[in-house]
Amino acid sequence: MSAVSSSKAEQGMINEELIQVEFHDRVMLLRLSRPAALNALCKKLIQQLNAALDQAENDSRIGAIVVTGSEKAFAAGADIVEMRHLTFSDVTDKDFIHPWERLAQCEKPVLAAVSGYALGGGCELAMMCDIIYAGESAKFGQPEITIGTMPGAGGTQRLTQLIGKTKAMEMCLTGRIIQAKEAEQIGLVSRVYPDADLLKETLAAATKIAHFSAPVVRMIKEAIRHTTETELVGGIRFERRLFQSTFALEDRQEGMAAFAEKRPATFKHR
Ligand code: CAA
Repeated sequence: MSAVSSSKAEQGMINEELIQVEFHDRVMLLRLSRPAALNALCKKLIQQLNAALDQAENDSRIGAIVVTGSEKAFAAGADIVEMRHLTFSDVTDKDFIHPWERLAQCEKPVLAAVSGYALGGGCELAMMCDIIYAGESAKFGQPEITIGTMPGAGGTQRLTQLIGKTKAMEMCLTGRIIQAKEAEQIGLVSRVYPDADLLKETLAAATKIAHFSAPVVRMIKEAIRHTTETELVGGIRFERRLFQSTFALEDRQEGMAAFAEKRPATFKHR
């Protein structure tokens, strides 16, 4: 496989601060790169991710997209520090986190290569991808409940579709974090690789897909999305609205403050 790492100047492509872009044959590799916050998904990161996705979708030389993070974290969720002081009217006026759905709307196939933490919004971002490959170090979870809120980008919906009601309930209601092997057993990820092989194997699969007929690839993806998304459309919006409504709760304020202040949260149930 020819790995072509290109600069913005060379390719006229996006290679910005929080998303590193590389080209590997017909595959665009997008690396979330915000190490100081374990790739927490702030507004700027999502804007840059979406811009890169637009670029990939508009470039006929690109046949597949790979999204990855670092060894320590795919992404540790929505940026709690950025969200902490938002009010109910802030999040409802701006339909907070709606732009995240761009990834789920990609017409080209998207593969996630997950090492380390994929928590909250990080797990949700991975589930928006078409195939998830995990390194042995990967850890998945929806721990929003521990900070007084709930999944807002598909955690209650896509997770339930993938692993079933009782397992999704357990993960979302207890915040339990599961290891890669368990994630594979319950159908959350397609395969687990040794961490050292994860990116190579993901790029190999993406390259294989990218060399098949692009219209046929698009049709297969569209057909599979049709069956999974018919049920999802209303649920994703419903979940996002409930997530936004948690911003009116004192418990949400307390949970996020406790995380930022590195102390246990004390919930008052209001
Ligand atoms: N938002 C903002 N900053 C985050 C973050 C997040 N989601 N996750 C980690 N960080 C920051 C930490 O604040 C810390 O920053 P400082 O060094 O400046 O203090 C840095 O990243 C390293 O994190 P830790 O020191 O906590 O690292 P650790 O190895 O001890 O723990 C962890 C790792 C278990 C992932 C822990 O960081 C953690 O629990 N993170 C939050 C996970 C979470 O609750 N995610 C859900 C967010 S809500 C959401 O995503 C809503 C939605 O559905 C859209």
